[in-house]
Amino acid sequence: WGVIGHRAIGKIAENHLSSKAKKAVQDILGSESLAMVSTYPDEIRSYQQYSYTAPWHYVNLPEGLSYDDFNAQLKSMDKPNIYKALLQCISDLKDASKTKEEHIFALKFLVHLVGDIHQPMHTGHSEDSGGNGIKVKLMRKETNLHGLWDSGLIDYTGLSYRELAADCDVVEKNEAKTWEKDDVAKWAFESYEISKQLYAEAAKNPEFDYSYYPAHADIVKKRLAQAGIRLAAILNEINK
Ligand code: ADE
Ligand code: ZN
Ligand code: ZN
Repeated sequence: WGVIGHRAIGKIAENHLSSKAKKAVQDILGSESLAMVSTYPDEIRSYQQYSYTAPWHYVNLPEGLSYDDFNAQLKSMDKPNIYKALLQCISDLKDASKTKEEHIFALKFLVHLVGDIHQPMHTGHSEDSGGNGIKVKLMRKETNLHGLWDSGLIDYTGLSYRELAADCDVVEKNEAKTWEKDDVAKWAFESYEISKQLYAEAAKNPEFDYSYYPAHADIVKKRLAQAGIRLAAILNEINK
Protein backbone atom coordinates (compact mmCIF):
# COMPACT_ATOMS: atom_id res chain seq x y z
CA TRP A 1 0.00 0.00 0.00
CA GLY A 2 0.93 3.65 -0.16
CA VAL A 3 1.04 6.13 2.70
CA ILE A 4 -2.72 6.52 3.20
CA GLY A 5 -3.43 2.76 3.12
CA HIS A 6 -0.69 1.97 5.65
CA ARG A 7 -1.73 4.78 7.98
CA ALA A 8 -5.40 3.73 7.80
CA ILE A 9 -4.37 0.19 8.85
CA GLY A 10 -2.35 1.60 11.77
CA LYS A 11 -5.34 3.70 12.82
CA ILE A 12 -7.78 0.74 12.60
CA ALA A 13 -5.38 -1.32 14.74
CA GLU A 14 -5.20 1.49 17.34
CA ASN A 15 -9.03 1.35 17.57
CA HIS A 16 -8.84 -2.35 18.51
CA LEU A 17 -5.93 -2.46 20.99
CA SER A 18 -6.44 -3.63 24.58
CA SER A 19 -5.28 -1.17 27.25
CA LYS A 20 -2.26 -3.40 27.99
CA ALA A 21 -1.26 -3.49 24.33
CA LYS A 22 -1.74 0.28 24.03
CA LYS A 23 0.63 0.80 26.91
CA ALA A 24 3.20 -1.63 25.47
CA VAL A 25 3.07 0.14 22.10
CA GLN A 26 3.58 3.49 23.85
CA ASP A 27 6.55 2.08 25.78
CA ILE A 28 8.16 1.08 22.48
CA LEU A 29 7.21 3.99 20.22
CA GLY A 30 6.99 6.87 22.71
CA SER A 31 4.88 9.67 21.23
CA GLU A 32 4.68 8.08 17.77
CA SER A 33 1.48 6.25 16.80
CA LEU A 34 1.10 2.98 14.86
CA ALA A 35 -0.35 5.05 12.00
CA MET A 36 2.70 7.31 11.85
CA VAL A 37 5.37 4.56 12.01
CA SER A 38 3.53 2.36 9.50
CA THR A 39 5.35 3.88 6.50
CA TYR A 40 8.88 3.68 7.96
CA PRO A 41 9.90 0.51 6.06
CA ASP A 42 9.08 2.18 2.73
CA GLU A 43 11.08 5.26 3.75
CA ILE A 44 14.26 3.25 4.39
CA ARG A 45 14.07 0.50 1.76
CA SER A 46 15.87 2.42 -0.99
CA TYR A 47 18.93 3.17 1.20
CA GLN A 48 21.92 0.89 0.67
CA GLN A 49 22.18 0.27 4.39
CA TYR A 50 18.66 -1.19 4.41
CA SER A 51 18.54 -2.77 0.95
CA TYR A 52 18.40 -6.20 2.64
CA THR A 53 14.85 -5.32 3.77
CA ALA A 54 13.49 -4.73 0.23
CA PRO A 55 12.42 -8.39 -0.29
CA TRP A 56 10.58 -8.35 3.05
CA HIS A 57 7.65 -6.45 1.52
CA TYR A 58 6.29 -9.24 -0.69
CA VAL A 59 6.39 -12.85 -1.77
CA ASN A 60 6.20 -14.15 -5.33
CA LEU A 61 4.74 -17.57 -6.10
CA PRO A 62 3.70 -19.25 -9.35
CA GLU A 63 0.12 -19.04 -10.53
CA GLY A 64 -2.58 -21.61 -9.83
CA LEU A 65 -1.44 -23.26 -6.57
CA SER A 66 -3.91 -25.03 -4.28
CA TYR A 67 -3.95 -23.92 -0.64
CA ASP A 68 -1.81 -26.91 0.38
CA ASP A 69 0.78 -26.34 -2.36
CA PHE A 70 0.82 -22.61 -1.65
CA ASN A 71 1.43 -23.30 2.03
CA ALA A 72 4.16 -25.82 1.34
CA GLN A 73 6.01 -23.51 -1.09
CA LEU A 74 5.60 -20.45 1.16
CA LYS A 75 6.90 -22.23 4.24
CA SER A 76 9.87 -23.89 2.52
CA MET A 77 11.11 -20.79 0.67
CA ASP A 78 14.80 -19.99 1.34
CA LYS A 79 14.82 -16.41 0.04
CA PRO A 80 13.80 -13.58 2.36
CA ASN A 81 10.11 -12.73 1.92
CA ILE A 82 7.18 -11.10 3.70
CA TYR A 83 6.06 -14.31 5.42
CA LYS A 84 9.47 -14.98 6.96
CA ALA A 85 9.94 -11.31 7.87
CA LEU A 86 6.55 -11.13 9.61
CA LEU A 87 7.22 -14.22 11.72
CA GLN A 88 10.61 -12.75 12.66
CA CYS A 89 9.03 -9.43 13.73
CA ILE A 90 6.51 -11.25 15.94
CA SER A 91 9.22 -13.40 17.49
CA ASP A 92 11.49 -10.37 18.12
CA LEU A 93 8.67 -8.45 19.79
CA LYS A 94 7.99 -11.38 22.13
CA ASP A 95 11.68 -11.74 22.95
CA ALA A 96 12.53 -9.81 26.12
CA SER A 97 16.26 -10.27 25.50
CA LYS A 98 16.06 -8.00 22.42
CA THR A 99 17.09 -4.36 22.88
CA LYS A 100 14.73 -1.38 22.86
CA GLU A 101 16.04 -0.46 19.40
CA GLU A 102 15.31 -3.98 18.13
CA HIS A 103 11.78 -3.81 19.52
CA ILE A 104 11.20 -0.44 17.81
CA PHE A 105 12.44 -1.82 14.49
CA ALA A 106 10.36 -5.01 14.81
CA LEU A 107 7.17 -3.11 15.67
CA LYS A 108 7.57 -0.62 12.80
CA PHE A 109 8.04 -3.52 10.37
CA LEU A 110 5.18 -5.52 11.89
CA VAL A 111 2.70 -2.67 11.34
CA HIS A 112 3.89 -2.22 7.77
CA LEU A 113 4.15 -5.87 6.75
CA VAL A 114 0.77 -6.94 8.16
CA GLY A 115 -0.50 -4.22 5.84
CA ASP A 116 1.49 -5.29 2.80
CA ILE A 117 0.59 -8.97 3.10
CA HIS A 118 -3.08 -7.92 2.79
CA GLN A 119 -2.39 -6.01 -0.46
CA PRO A 120 -3.26 -8.64 -3.09
CA MET A 121 -0.47 -7.65 -5.48
CA HIS A 122 2.16 -8.26 -2.76
CA THR A 123 1.61 -12.01 -3.29
CA GLY A 124 1.79 -11.87 -7.09
CA HIS A 125 4.05 -13.45 -9.71
CA SER A 126 7.80 -12.84 -10.02
CA GLU A 127 7.82 -12.48 -13.83
CA ASP A 128 5.84 -9.21 -13.62
CA SER A 129 7.18 -8.11 -10.18
CA GLY A 130 3.82 -8.47 -8.50
CA GLY A 131 1.98 -6.51 -11.19
CA ASN A 132 4.54 -3.68 -11.41
CA GLY A 133 5.21 -4.89 -14.96
CA ILE A 134 1.54 -4.98 -15.97
CA LYS A 135 0.54 -1.74 -17.65
CA VAL A 136 -3.06 -0.72 -17.09
CA LYS A 137 -5.04 2.49 -17.35
CA LEU A 138 -7.50 3.86 -14.84
CA MET A 139 -9.82 6.26 -16.65
CA ARG A 140 -7.26 6.82 -19.42
CA LYS A 141 -4.42 7.52 -16.96
CA GLU A 142 -1.46 5.15 -17.31
CA THR A 143 -0.39 3.17 -14.29
CA ASN A 144 0.37 -0.46 -13.46
CA LEU A 145 -1.61 -3.12 -11.66
CA HIS A 146 0.63 -3.03 -8.57
CA GLY A 147 0.62 0.76 -8.17
CA LEU A 148 -3.11 0.90 -8.82
CA TRP A 149 -3.66 -1.37 -5.82
CA ASP A 150 -0.98 0.24 -3.61
CA SER A 151 -2.36 3.75 -3.96
CA GLY A 152 -4.20 4.51 -7.23
CA LEU A 153 -7.58 3.29 -5.99
CA ILE A 154 -7.17 4.79 -2.52
CA ASP A 155 -6.08 8.16 -3.95
CA TYR A 156 -9.15 8.08 -6.17
CA THR A 157 -11.38 8.09 -3.06
CA GLY A 158 -9.86 11.42 -1.99
CA LEU A 159 -10.12 10.32 1.66
CA SER A 160 -7.63 11.12 4.41
CA TYR A 161 -6.22 8.11 6.26
CA ARG A 162 -8.50 8.82 9.23
CA GLU A 163 -11.56 9.03 6.98
CA LEU A 164 -10.53 5.85 5.19
CA ALA A 165 -10.01 4.04 8.51
CA ALA A 166 -13.46 5.13 9.70
CA ASP A 167 -14.95 3.97 6.39
CA CYS A 168 -13.35 0.50 6.69
CA ASP A 169 -13.69 -0.09 10.42
CA VAL A 170 -17.36 -1.05 10.42
CA VAL A 171 -16.93 -4.79 10.88
CA GLU A 172 -19.26 -7.02 12.87
CA LYS A 173 -17.72 -8.44 16.05
CA ASN A 174 -18.34 -12.05 14.95
CA GLU A 175 -16.73 -11.52 11.58
CA ALA A 176 -13.72 -9.83 13.19
CA LYS A 177 -13.40 -12.82 15.55
CA THR A 178 -13.12 -15.24 12.63
CA TRP A 179 -10.47 -13.02 10.97
CA GLU A 180 -8.41 -13.09 14.18
CA LYS A 181 -8.24 -16.89 14.11
CA ASP A 182 -6.52 -17.10 10.73
CA ASP A 183 -2.73 -17.43 10.57
CA VAL A 184 -0.19 -15.46 8.52
CA ALA A 185 -0.06 -18.06 5.73
CA LYS A 186 -3.85 -17.82 5.36
CA TRP A 187 -3.63 -14.01 5.01
CA ALA A 188 -1.10 -14.50 2.23
CA PHE A 189 -3.26 -17.08 0.48
CA GLU A 190 -6.28 -14.76 0.59
CA SER A 191 -4.19 -12.08 -1.13
CA TYR A 192 -2.91 -14.62 -3.65
CA GLU A 193 -6.49 -15.63 -4.55
CA ILE A 194 -7.58 -12.01 -4.96
CA SER A 195 -4.52 -11.28 -7.12
CA LYS A 196 -5.56 -14.15 -9.39
CA GLN A 197 -8.84 -12.34 -10.08
CA LEU A 198 -7.08 -8.98 -10.58
CA TYR A 199 -4.54 -10.50 -13.01
CA ALA A 200 -7.34 -12.16 -14.99
CA GLU A 201 -9.35 -8.93 -15.25
CA ALA A 202 -6.30 -6.95 -16.41
CA ALA A 203 -5.47 -9.63 -19.00
CA LYS A 204 -9.00 -9.42 -20.36
CA ASN A 205 -9.02 -5.64 -20.69
CA PRO A 206 -6.34 -3.43 -19.09
CA GLU A 207 -8.22 -0.19 -19.78
CA PHE A 208 -10.21 0.23 -16.59
CA ASP A 209 -12.98 2.83 -16.57
CA TYR A 210 -15.10 4.54 -13.90
CA SER A 211 -16.69 1.22 -12.98
CA TYR A 212 -13.39 -0.28 -11.70
CA TYR A 213 -13.31 1.47 -8.32
CA PRO A 214 -16.95 0.80 -7.37
CA ALA A 215 -16.51 -2.84 -8.45
CA HIS A 216 -13.44 -3.28 -6.20
CA ALA A 217 -14.10 -0.89 -3.29
CA ASP A 218 -15.38 -3.66 -1.02
CA ILE A 219 -12.19 -5.67 -1.56
CA VAL A 220 -9.97 -2.65 -0.75
CA LYS A 221 -11.93 -1.84 2.41
CA LYS A 222 -12.08 -5.46 3.58
CA ARG A 223 -8.33 -5.95 3.16
CA LEU A 224 -7.55 -2.74 5.09
CA ALA A 225 -9.98 -3.72 7.86
CA GLN A 226 -8.61 -7.27 8.08
CA ALA A 227 -5.04 -5.96 8.29
CA GLY A 228 -5.88 -3.49 11.08
CA ILE A 229 -7.93 -5.95 13.11
CA ARG A 230 -5.41 -8.78 12.75
CA LEU A 231 -2.53 -6.45 13.66
CA ALA A 232 -4.36 -5.42 16.84
CA ALA A 233 -5.05 -9.09 17.65
CA ILE A 234 -1.33 -9.93 17.38
CA LEU A 235 -0.36 -7.03 19.62
CA ASN A 236 -3.12 -7.90 22.11
CA GLU A 237 -1.92 -11.53 22.16
CA ILE A 238 1.74 -10.57 22.69
CA ASN A 239 0.76 -8.30 25.58
CA LYS A 240 -1.89 -10.45 27.31
N1 ADE B 1 7.67 -4.82 -5.20
C1 ADE B 1 8.85 -4.86 -5.83
N2 ADE B 1 9.05 -6.04 -6.43
C2 ADE B 1 7.95 -6.77 -6.16
C3 ADE B 1 7.54 -8.07 -6.51
N3 ADE B 1 8.33 -8.87 -7.22
N4 ADE B 1 6.35 -8.50 -6.06
C4 ADE B 1 5.58 -7.69 -5.33
N5 ADE B 1 5.90 -6.47 -4.97
C5 ADE B 1 7.07 -6.00 -5.38
ZN1 ZN C 1 5.85 -2.08 1.73
ZN1 ZN D 1 3.29 -2.31 -3.09
